[in-house]
Amino acid sequence: MSPQVIVRPARPDEFDAVGELTVRSYVTGGLLDREDPYVARLYDAAGRARDAELLVATDDTDRLLGTVTVCEPGSPLSEVSRPGELEFRMLAVSPAARGRGIGELLTRAVLDRAAQRGARQVVLSSSEWMSVAHRLYTRLGFSRLPDRDWQPVPGLRLVAFGRSRAADG
Ligand SMILES: CC(C)(COP(=O)(O)OP(=O)(O)OC[C@H]1O[C@@H](n2cnc3c(N)ncnc32)[C@H](O)[C@@H]1OP(=O)(O)O)[C@@H](O)C(=O)NCCC(=O)NCCS
Repeated sequence: MSPQVIVRPARPDEFDAVGELTVRSYVTGGLLDREDPYVARLYDAAGRARDAELLVATDDTDRLLGTVTVCEPGSPLSEVSRPGELEFRMLAVSPAARGRGIGELLTRAVLDRAAQRGARQVVLSSSEWMSVAHRLYTRLGFSRLPDRDWQPVPGLRLVAFGRSRAADG
């Protein structure tokens, strides 16, 4: 991991670029079809900043490298979290910046926020085929929460993961 990468809240002037980066990250490599209706949600970084905490990773020239959205249980973007937990969504790293630990840095930023807020667990759900992300989560101590798997639309199963704060030791 390059020491110059920082994680911070996104600025309004970055919302369009964050939306673009998120879409590019999911569409590159065929994780999502560009015609999929979910693409419009991925573009909507301004909505994520309004309803949740929109974080970005940038380099020392302020170039955007990645993003993640942190949401509270019961808030408009939450899907699988329960009271006392913290959820994250739409983790994305620019294809050109992958393999440098930026996804890990963004996920650790979520874990840090959970610790600061006293959340007992961090949770997320993800498409079954997002295996690179799943390896990252497993490496960081997340495990599967099969009882929270769900289907946003019939036939599309999302798999849930969680990392309890007890894992911090
Ligand atoms: C998942 C994702 C955020 C990981 O970001 P990242 O910054 O590349 O994460 P890391 O640097 O920790 O590397 C992750 C893996 O990619 C591998 N990798 C190395 N170089 C790479 C490269 N040039 N391109 C892609 N992956 C590379 C790493 O070795 C690592 O593999 P491992 O887990 O088997 O060790 C990123 O791949 C992404 O944006 N994917 C598309 C969106 C997505 O799946 N989001 C998750 C939704 S739940």
